[in-house]
Amino acid sequence: MDDLKAKYLSQIADASDEAALEDLRVAALGKKGEISLKMRELGKMSPEERQVAGPALNALKDEVNSALAAKKAALADAALDARLRTEWLDVTLPGRNRPAGTIHPISQVTEEVSAIFADLGFAVAEGPQVEDDWHNFDALNIPSHHPARGEMDTFYMHRDEGDNRPPHVLRTHTSPVQIRAMQAQGAPIRIICPGRVYRADYDQTHTPMFHQVEGLAIDTDISMANLKWVLEEFVKAFFEVDDVELRFRASHFPFTEPSAEVDIRCSWENGVLKVGEGDDWLEILGSGMVHPKVLEAGGIDPTKYQGFAFGMGIDRIAMLKYGIPDLRAFFDSDLRWLRHYGFASLDQPNLAGGLSR
Ligand code: DAH
Repeated sequence: MDDLKAKYLSQIADASDEAALEDLRVAALGKKGEISLKMRELGKMSPEERQVAGPALNALKDEVNSALAAKKAALADAALDARLRTEWLDVTLPGRNRPAGTIHPISQVTEEVSAIFADLGFAVAEGPQVEDDWHNFDALNIPSHHPARGEMDTFYMHRDEGDNRPPHVLRTHTSPVQIRAMQAQGAPIRIICPGRVYRADYDQTHTPMFHQVEGLAIDTDISMANLKWVLEEFVKAFFEVDDVELRFRASHFPFTEPSAEVDIRCSWENGVLKVGEGDDWLEILGSGMVHPKVLEAGGIDPTKYQGFAFGMGIDRIAMLKYGIPDLRAFFDSDLRWLRHYGFASLDQPNLAGGLSR
Protein backbone atom coordinates (compact mmCIF):
# COMPACT_ATOMS: atom_id res chain seq x y z
CA MET A 1 0.00 0.00 0.00
CA ASP A 2 2.91 2.29 0.69
CA ASP A 3 4.19 1.57 -2.83
CA LEU A 4 0.82 2.46 -4.33
CA LYS A 5 0.70 5.67 -2.35
CA ALA A 6 4.22 6.70 -3.33
CA LYS A 7 3.59 5.89 -7.00
CA TYR A 8 0.33 7.86 -7.34
CA LEU A 9 1.41 10.84 -5.27
CA SER A 10 4.55 11.27 -7.34
CA GLN A 11 2.73 10.80 -10.66
CA ILE A 12 0.08 13.31 -9.59
CA ALA A 13 2.78 15.78 -8.64
CA ASP A 14 4.34 15.35 -12.09
CA ALA A 15 1.10 15.59 -14.11
CA SER A 16 1.43 18.41 -16.60
CA ASP A 17 -2.24 19.05 -17.43
CA GLU A 18 -5.82 18.17 -16.54
CA ALA A 19 -6.02 15.32 -19.06
CA ALA A 20 -3.01 13.56 -17.49
CA LEU A 21 -4.60 14.08 -14.08
CA GLU A 22 -7.83 12.47 -15.25
CA ASP A 23 -5.90 9.47 -16.64
CA LEU A 24 -4.30 9.03 -13.22
CA ARG A 25 -7.66 9.24 -11.45
CA VAL A 26 -9.06 6.52 -13.69
CA ALA A 27 -5.95 4.32 -13.23
CA ALA A 28 -6.17 4.61 -9.41
CA LEU A 29 -9.82 5.12 -8.51
CA GLY A 30 -11.80 4.32 -11.66
CA LYS A 31 -14.04 1.25 -11.78
CA LYS A 32 -11.07 -0.93 -12.69
CA GLY A 33 -8.51 1.28 -10.99
CA GLU A 34 -5.77 -0.22 -8.92
CA ILE A 35 -7.05 1.09 -5.59
CA SER A 36 -10.68 0.24 -6.45
CA LEU A 37 -9.69 -3.36 -7.20
CA LYS A 38 -7.90 -3.58 -3.88
CA MET A 39 -11.04 -2.34 -2.13
CA ARG A 40 -12.99 -5.08 -3.81
CA GLU A 41 -10.59 -7.67 -2.35
CA LEU A 42 -11.64 -6.59 1.16
CA GLY A 43 -14.69 -8.88 0.85
CA LYS A 44 -12.52 -11.96 0.55
CA MET A 45 -10.46 -11.12 3.62
CA SER A 46 -10.86 -12.46 7.11
CA PRO A 47 -12.45 -10.01 9.57
CA GLU A 48 -9.08 -9.47 11.25
CA GLU A 49 -7.29 -8.71 8.01
CA ARG A 50 -10.13 -6.42 6.92
CA GLN A 51 -9.91 -4.46 10.16
CA VAL A 52 -6.36 -3.49 9.30
CA ALA A 53 -6.64 -3.20 5.50
CA GLY A 54 -10.04 -1.38 5.37
CA PRO A 55 -9.10 1.87 7.13
CA ALA A 56 -5.68 1.88 5.43
CA LEU A 57 -7.25 1.58 1.96
CA ASN A 58 -9.82 4.28 2.74
CA ALA A 59 -7.06 6.56 3.95
CA LEU A 60 -5.10 5.87 0.75
CA LYS A 61 -8.17 6.61 -1.38
CA ASP A 62 -8.77 9.90 0.49
CA GLU A 63 -5.15 10.90 0.17
CA VAL A 64 -5.07 10.24 -3.59
CA ASN A 65 -8.37 12.09 -4.05
CA SER A 66 -7.18 15.15 -2.21
CA ALA A 67 -3.84 15.08 -4.05
CA LEU A 68 -5.80 15.02 -7.33
CA ALA A 69 -7.97 17.95 -6.23
CA ALA A 70 -4.99 20.00 -5.03
CA LYS A 71 -3.07 19.40 -8.26
CA LYS A 72 -6.13 20.30 -10.32
CA ALA A 73 -6.42 23.61 -8.52
CA ALA A 74 -2.71 24.25 -8.92
CA LEU A 75 -2.89 23.59 -12.68
CA ALA A 76 -5.87 25.98 -13.03
CA ASP A 77 -3.96 28.68 -11.11
CA ALA A 78 -0.94 28.22 -13.35
CA ALA A 79 -3.11 28.45 -16.49
CA LEU A 80 -4.71 31.66 -15.24
CA ASP A 81 -1.28 33.10 -14.43
CA ALA A 82 -0.04 32.30 -17.92
CA ARG A 83 -3.11 33.92 -19.48
CA LEU A 84 -2.78 37.03 -17.35
CA ARG A 85 0.85 37.31 -18.35
CA THR A 86 0.02 37.27 -22.07
CA GLU A 87 -2.88 39.69 -21.63
CA TRP A 88 -0.79 42.15 -19.71
CA LEU A 89 -1.18 45.73 -20.77
CA ASP A 90 0.85 48.71 -19.68
CA VAL A 91 -1.84 51.30 -19.11
CA THR A 92 0.82 53.93 -18.46
CA LEU A 93 1.99 53.88 -22.12
CA PRO A 94 1.31 57.17 -23.92
CA GLY A 95 -1.67 57.10 -26.34
CA ARG A 96 -0.96 56.29 -29.97
CA ASN A 97 -1.01 59.23 -32.33
CA ARG A 98 -3.38 58.27 -35.11
CA PRO A 99 -2.95 60.01 -38.45
CA ALA A 100 -5.23 63.04 -38.21
CA GLY A 101 -7.72 63.65 -41.02
CA THR A 102 -8.25 67.10 -42.47
CA ILE A 103 -11.27 69.01 -43.71
CA HIS A 104 -11.31 69.23 -47.51
CA PRO A 105 -11.04 72.81 -48.82
CA ILE A 106 -14.43 72.42 -50.56
CA SER A 107 -16.07 71.52 -47.26
CA GLN A 108 -14.24 74.33 -45.52
CA VAL A 109 -15.26 76.92 -48.12
CA THR A 110 -18.86 75.65 -48.12
CA GLU A 111 -18.90 76.18 -44.35
CA GLU A 112 -17.35 79.62 -44.72
CA VAL A 113 -19.91 80.67 -47.34
CA SER A 114 -22.76 79.31 -45.22
CA ALA A 115 -21.50 81.14 -42.13
CA ILE A 116 -21.34 84.45 -43.99
CA PHE A 117 -24.79 84.14 -45.56
CA ALA A 118 -26.30 82.87 -42.32
CA ASP A 119 -25.08 86.11 -40.78
CA LEU A 120 -26.91 88.00 -43.56
CA GLY A 121 -30.14 86.12 -42.79
CA PHE A 122 -30.00 83.41 -45.47
CA ALA A 123 -31.04 79.83 -44.66
CA VAL A 124 -29.50 76.80 -46.36
CA ALA A 125 -31.74 74.85 -48.77
CA GLU A 126 -31.01 71.59 -50.56
CA GLY A 127 -32.27 69.71 -53.58
CA PRO A 128 -31.62 66.40 -55.37
CA GLN A 129 -28.54 65.87 -57.52
CA VAL A 130 -30.55 63.69 -59.91
CA GLU A 131 -33.05 66.27 -61.10
CA ASP A 132 -35.91 66.16 -63.57
CA ASP A 133 -35.42 68.29 -66.66
CA TRP A 134 -38.35 70.51 -65.73
CA HIS A 135 -36.66 71.76 -62.54
CA ASN A 136 -33.21 71.88 -64.12
CA PHE A 137 -34.31 73.67 -67.33
CA ASP A 138 -37.94 74.50 -68.13
CA ALA A 139 -38.84 76.07 -64.79
CA LEU A 140 -35.73 78.25 -65.13
CA ASN A 141 -36.99 79.56 -68.45
CA ILE A 142 -34.70 77.29 -70.47
CA PRO A 143 -37.10 75.60 -72.95
CA SER A 144 -35.98 72.50 -74.87
CA HIS A 145 -34.87 74.40 -77.98
CA HIS A 146 -32.80 76.86 -75.92
CA PRO A 147 -29.07 76.89 -76.72
CA ALA A 148 -28.21 76.87 -72.99
CA ARG A 149 -29.31 73.23 -72.88
CA GLY A 150 -26.67 72.27 -75.39
CA GLU A 151 -24.01 74.47 -73.81
CA MET A 152 -24.32 72.83 -70.45
CA ASP A 153 -22.90 69.45 -71.54
CA THR A 154 -25.63 67.72 -69.61
CA PHE A 155 -25.41 64.16 -68.31
CA TYR A 156 -28.76 62.49 -69.02
CA MET A 157 -29.88 59.53 -66.89
CA HIS A 158 -30.37 56.28 -68.77
CA ARG A 159 -33.96 55.48 -69.69
CA ASP A 160 -35.29 52.07 -70.70
CA GLU A 161 -37.33 51.88 -73.86
CA GLY A 162 -40.97 52.58 -73.03
CA ASP A 163 -40.08 54.42 -69.83
CA ASN A 164 -42.18 57.56 -70.16
CA ARG A 165 -41.37 59.21 -66.86
CA PRO A 166 -39.97 62.71 -67.37
CA PRO A 167 -36.30 62.71 -68.40
CA HIS A 168 -33.84 63.10 -65.52
CA VAL A 169 -30.40 64.68 -65.57
CA LEU A 170 -27.52 65.12 -63.16
CA ARG A 171 -28.27 68.71 -62.24
CA THR A 172 -26.06 71.04 -64.24
CA HIS A 173 -26.34 73.87 -61.72
CA THR A 174 -27.80 74.60 -58.28
CA SER A 175 -30.47 76.88 -59.78
CA PRO A 176 -33.22 74.17 -59.73
CA VAL A 177 -33.08 74.40 -55.93
CA GLN A 178 -34.44 77.97 -56.33
CA ILE A 179 -37.59 76.47 -57.83
CA ARG A 180 -37.92 73.75 -55.20
CA ALA A 181 -37.39 76.24 -52.38
CA MET A 182 -39.96 78.67 -53.78
CA GLN A 183 -42.46 75.85 -54.22
CA ALA A 184 -41.87 74.61 -50.70
CA GLN A 185 -41.66 77.92 -48.83
CA GLY A 186 -43.30 80.59 -50.94
CA ALA A 187 -42.35 84.24 -50.56
CA PRO A 188 -40.69 86.07 -48.92
CA ILE A 189 -37.66 83.84 -49.06
CA ARG A 190 -33.94 84.16 -48.44
CA ILE A 191 -31.84 81.08 -49.07
CA ILE A 192 -28.53 79.80 -50.34
CA CYS A 193 -28.10 76.31 -51.78
CA PRO A 194 -24.59 74.89 -51.87
CA GLY A 195 -24.07 71.54 -53.55
CA ARG A 196 -22.67 69.31 -56.25
CA VAL A 197 -23.37 69.86 -59.91
CA TYR A 198 -22.32 67.92 -63.02
CA ARG A 199 -21.21 68.70 -66.56
CA ALA A 200 -19.34 66.62 -69.12
CA ASP A 201 -16.14 68.66 -69.15
CA TYR A 202 -12.57 67.97 -68.01
CA ASP A 203 -9.43 70.16 -68.00
CA GLN A 204 -7.35 72.23 -65.57
CA THR A 205 -10.35 74.35 -64.57
CA HIS A 206 -13.21 71.92 -65.26
CA THR A 207 -14.18 68.61 -63.66
CA PRO A 208 -17.32 66.59 -64.46
CA MET A 209 -18.48 67.11 -60.87
CA PHE A 210 -17.99 70.44 -59.17
CA HIS A 211 -19.71 72.67 -56.63
CA GLN A 212 -21.86 75.76 -56.78
CA VAL A 213 -23.71 77.90 -54.32
CA GLU A 214 -26.94 79.50 -55.38
CA GLY A 215 -28.45 82.52 -53.67
CA LEU A 216 -32.06 83.66 -53.78
CA ALA A 217 -33.81 86.58 -52.07
CA ILE A 218 -37.45 87.32 -52.86
CA ASP A 219 -39.61 89.96 -51.24
CA THR A 220 -41.88 92.84 -52.25
CA ASP A 221 -39.15 95.50 -52.44
CA ILE A 222 -35.87 93.89 -53.43
CA SER A 223 -33.70 95.55 -56.06
CA MET A 224 -30.30 95.25 -57.77
CA ALA A 225 -28.97 97.57 -55.05
CA ASN A 226 -29.67 94.91 -52.44
CA LEU A 227 -27.89 92.35 -54.62
CA LYS A 228 -24.85 94.61 -54.89
CA TRP A 229 -24.66 95.23 -51.15
CA VAL A 230 -25.08 91.57 -50.25
CA LEU A 231 -22.37 90.52 -52.70
CA GLU A 232 -20.00 93.21 -51.45
CA GLU A 233 -20.51 92.11 -47.87
CA PHE A 234 -19.98 88.53 -48.91
CA VAL A 235 -16.78 89.15 -50.86
CA LYS A 236 -15.26 91.27 -48.07
CA ALA A 237 -16.05 88.63 -45.46
CA PHE A 238 -14.99 85.71 -47.63
CA PHE A 239 -11.65 87.11 -48.78
CA GLU A 240 -11.14 88.70 -45.36
CA VAL A 241 -10.43 92.19 -46.71
CA ASP A 242 -11.78 95.55 -45.52
CA ASP A 243 -12.61 96.97 -48.91
CA VAL A 244 -13.52 95.54 -52.25
CA GLU A 245 -14.70 96.89 -55.56
CA LEU A 246 -17.22 94.99 -57.62
CA ARG A 247 -17.92 95.43 -61.30
CA PHE A 248 -21.30 94.46 -62.67
CA ARG A 249 -21.04 93.51 -66.33
CA ALA A 250 -24.25 93.21 -68.33
CA SER A 251 -24.78 89.60 -69.29
CA HIS A 252 -27.53 87.16 -70.14
CA PHE A 253 -29.04 84.25 -68.26
CA PRO A 254 -32.46 82.86 -69.18
CA PHE A 255 -33.54 82.88 -65.52
CA THR A 256 -32.74 86.53 -64.73
CA GLU A 257 -33.67 89.86 -66.24
CA PRO A 258 -31.61 91.98 -66.12
CA SER A 259 -28.55 89.76 -65.70
CA ALA A 260 -25.05 90.64 -64.61
CA GLU A 261 -21.76 88.91 -64.24
CA VAL A 262 -19.81 90.16 -61.27
CA ASP A 263 -16.07 90.76 -61.24
CA ILE A 264 -13.90 91.78 -58.29
CA ARG A 265 -10.93 94.12 -58.46
CA CYS A 266 -7.70 92.28 -57.85
CA SER A 267 -4.02 92.06 -58.59
CA TRP A 268 -1.80 89.16 -59.51
CA GLU A 269 1.75 89.55 -58.25
CA ASN A 270 4.18 86.67 -58.74
CA GLY A 271 1.20 84.40 -59.08
CA VAL A 272 -0.30 85.59 -55.80
CA LEU A 273 -3.83 86.94 -55.94
CA LYS A 274 -4.74 90.02 -53.93
CA VAL A 275 -8.38 90.95 -53.71
CA GLY A 276 -9.49 94.57 -53.41
CA GLU A 277 -6.54 96.29 -55.09
CA GLY A 278 -4.77 96.35 -58.47
CA ASP A 279 -5.75 96.67 -62.11
CA ASP A 280 -7.18 93.25 -62.85
CA TRP A 281 -10.74 92.00 -62.68
CA LEU A 282 -11.74 88.51 -61.73
CA GLU A 283 -15.12 87.06 -62.59
CA ILE A 284 -16.65 85.28 -59.63
CA LEU A 285 -20.35 84.81 -60.27
CA GLY A 286 -23.49 85.25 -62.34
CA SER A 287 -26.52 87.06 -61.01
CA GLY A 288 -29.58 89.11 -61.78
CA MET A 289 -33.18 89.89 -60.96
CA VAL A 290 -35.24 86.70 -61.01
CA HIS A 291 -37.23 86.41 -64.27
CA PRO A 292 -41.02 86.69 -63.77
CA LYS A 293 -41.47 83.33 -65.52
CA VAL A 294 -39.16 81.72 -62.94
CA LEU A 295 -41.15 83.21 -60.07
CA GLU A 296 -44.32 81.85 -61.69
CA ALA A 297 -42.79 78.40 -62.05
CA GLY A 298 -41.98 78.56 -58.34
CA GLY A 299 -45.60 79.43 -57.56
CA ILE A 300 -44.86 83.03 -56.62
CA ASP A 301 -46.90 85.97 -57.96
CA PRO A 302 -44.51 88.12 -60.05
CA THR A 303 -46.82 91.13 -59.88
CA LYS A 304 -46.35 91.19 -56.11
CA TYR A 305 -42.86 89.83 -55.53
CA GLN A 306 -39.45 90.28 -57.04
CA GLY A 307 -35.92 89.47 -56.04
CA PHE A 308 -32.38 88.63 -56.95
CA ALA A 309 -30.49 85.41 -57.53
CA PHE A 310 -26.86 84.53 -58.03
CA GLY A 311 -24.77 81.46 -58.72
CA MET A 312 -21.13 81.03 -57.83
CA GLY A 313 -18.55 78.27 -58.24
CA ILE A 314 -17.39 77.06 -54.81
CA ASP A 315 -14.35 75.25 -56.20
CA ARG A 316 -13.35 78.37 -58.06
CA ILE A 317 -13.51 80.71 -55.06
CA ALA A 318 -11.71 78.05 -52.98
CA MET A 319 -8.89 77.97 -55.56
CA LEU A 320 -8.70 81.77 -55.52
CA LYS A 321 -8.74 82.16 -51.76
CA TYR A 322 -6.31 79.38 -50.92
CA GLY A 323 -4.04 79.60 -53.98
CA ILE A 324 -4.84 76.16 -55.38
CA PRO A 325 -3.72 76.00 -59.02
CA ASP A 326 -5.40 72.88 -60.44
CA LEU A 327 -9.08 72.05 -59.94
CA ARG A 328 -8.58 68.37 -60.73
CA ALA A 329 -6.41 67.89 -57.62
CA PHE A 330 -9.51 68.58 -55.49
CA PHE A 331 -10.84 65.17 -56.43
CA ASP A 332 -7.66 63.05 -56.58
CA SER A 333 -7.83 62.02 -52.90
CA ASP A 334 -4.06 62.45 -52.67
CA LEU A 335 -3.23 62.43 -48.94
CA ARG A 336 -0.20 64.70 -49.41
CA TRP A 337 -2.42 67.28 -51.14
CA LEU A 338 -5.11 66.94 -48.48
CA ARG A 339 -2.57 67.45 -45.68
CA HIS A 340 -1.20 70.51 -47.43
CA TYR A 341 -4.47 72.20 -48.37
CA GLY A 342 -6.78 70.63 -45.76
CA PHE A 343 -8.03 72.30 -42.59
CA ALA A 344 -7.87 71.16 -38.97
CA SER A 345 -10.98 69.18 -38.19
CA LEU A 346 -11.98 71.22 -35.16
CA ASP A 347 -11.65 74.61 -36.84
CA GLN A 348 -15.24 75.56 -37.55
CA PRO A 349 -15.42 78.70 -39.69
CA ASN A 350 -17.37 81.47 -38.01
CA LEU A 351 -17.41 85.20 -38.36
CA ALA A 352 -16.57 85.95 -34.72
CA GLY A 353 -13.52 83.70 -34.63
CA GLY A 354 -12.08 84.73 -38.00
CA LEU A 355 -13.25 82.64 -40.95
CA SER A 356 -10.17 80.75 -41.97
CA ARG A 357 -8.06 80.80 -38.83
N1 DAH B 1 -26.86 78.76 -63.04
C1 DAH B 1 -25.78 79.55 -63.59
C2 DAH B 1 -24.66 78.62 -64.04
O1 DAH B 1 -24.63 77.50 -63.66
C3 DAH B 1 -25.25 80.49 -62.57
C4 DAH B 1 -26.22 81.55 -62.25
C5 DAH B 1 -26.23 82.75 -62.96
C6 DAH B 1 -27.13 81.37 -61.23
C7 DAH B 1 -27.12 83.76 -62.65
C8 DAH B 1 -28.06 82.39 -60.94
C9 DAH B 1 -28.05 83.59 -61.67
O2 DAH B 1 -28.96 82.25 -59.96
O3 DAH B 1 -28.91 84.57 -61.34
O4 DAH B 1 -23.80 79.03 -64.76
